[in-house]
Amino acid sequence: MIPLICILLSTAADISFGSYLRPRLILESSPTFDNGRQIGTVDSPELKEASGLAASRTHPNILYTHNDHGDRSRIFALDATTAHVRAVFEITNATSHDWEDIAVGPCHGNETCIYIADTGNAGHGARNIIYRVLEPDTIQNGSLPIDSQLHFTWNAQDCDTLMVDPSGEVYIISNVNGGKGLIAHIPRSGWDSGSTVHVNSNTHLSISTSHPDPLGGDISPSGDEILVKTRESVLFWDMNGSKDYVSVLQTHPIRLPYISEHQGEAVAWQPDGRGYYTLGEGLHSPLYHYSLV
Ligand SMILES: *[C@@H]1O[C@H](CO)[C@@H](O)[C@H](O)[C@H]1NC(C)=O
Ligand SMILES: *[C@@H]1O[C@H](CO)[C@@H](O)[C@H](O)[C@H]1NC(C)=O
Ligand SMILES: *[C@@H]1O[C@H](CO)[C@@H](O)[C@H](O)[C@H]1NC(C)=O
Ligand SMILES: *[C@@H]1O[C@H](CO)[C@@H](O)[C@H](O)[C@H]1NC(C)=O
Repeated sequence: MIPLICILLSTAADISFGSYLRPRLILESSPTFDNGRQIGTVDSPELKEASGLAASRTHPNILYTHNDHGDRSRIFALDATTAHVRAVFEITNATSHDWEDIAVGPCHGNETCIYIADTGNAGHGARNIIYRVLEPDTIQNGSLPIDSQLHFTWNAQDCDTLMVDPSGEVYIISNVNGGKGLIAHIPRSGWDSGSTVHVNSNTHLSISTSHPDPLGGDISPSGDEILVKTRESVLFWDMNGSKDYVSVLQTHPIRLPYISEHQGEAVAWQPDGRGYYTLGEGLHSPLYHYSLV
């Protein structure tokens, strides 16, 4: 359990950006995180447009990340204590049109997999493929073959947010101007089915921004909370014991501390839920960490 305290919170309607905040004191339970600190800067010039981030469940202090569109099919293992790139993994049997987010979650019962979303538009329409690879045994340069892939269609053009819950269920949120992206749960029957899953959704994220949002997200390994990254903020939802991620994402979030980054799209929970990381795009970008206090 994370400690709960009372905080000064803006009204739900004020989770909008570029507008004034009208704070009001209400009793609200929410975790409090510090204002963040820079861990280091990414040392590899090959990781120059990080667009997703997820923490390994099997290797302590390892974060997986990847470049935005334009790179080949590969992911980077970043040391969460230094921002040093420890290894690069080529993902075989996968293509990269516009990889926009990455998540780590269970697969095959007791194993853990890395999930990669080739869901970005990149000007030519989204591929809408999610790849799954088993987490590597060792963090050293190598290749990882895909374990499975899921193809889907839906009523959205572009998606930067992929999340996986503790039972391996996949959730995506489309990127739209103003942030009210379409939220969808993709049924697990789509993995390796050989056919395309048609996802129906008419539920939207309950936020209001002045940019194309959201840009990334992560469900904590316990499944108890959600983070979503927008251009200007990190947003938080407490599941309060619910397992219905789609419904909870339709409620108003709480805004958490965030140090402004250049095109920051990447957010990840620390595996124990006691902190989170953000990473922006650009050469030698800083990796930031925010701790539960
Ligand atoms: C991976 O690619 C190779 C070579 O293109 C192909 O022979 C093989 O069937 C592919 N495997 C899967 C699982 O798609
Ligand atoms: C995972 O489950 C399989 C089959 O139940 C078992 O053989 C294997 O040892 C388990 N692995 C771990 C790491 O617990
Ligand atoms: C691992 O691969 C990266 C990128 O391809 C390269 O820059 C780095 O030198 C390699 N590291 C080792 C230890 O070979
Ligand atoms: C969770 O509980 C808190 C505190 O009671 C409440 O503010 C919040 O809206 C709840 N969230 C959901 C998704 O029910």
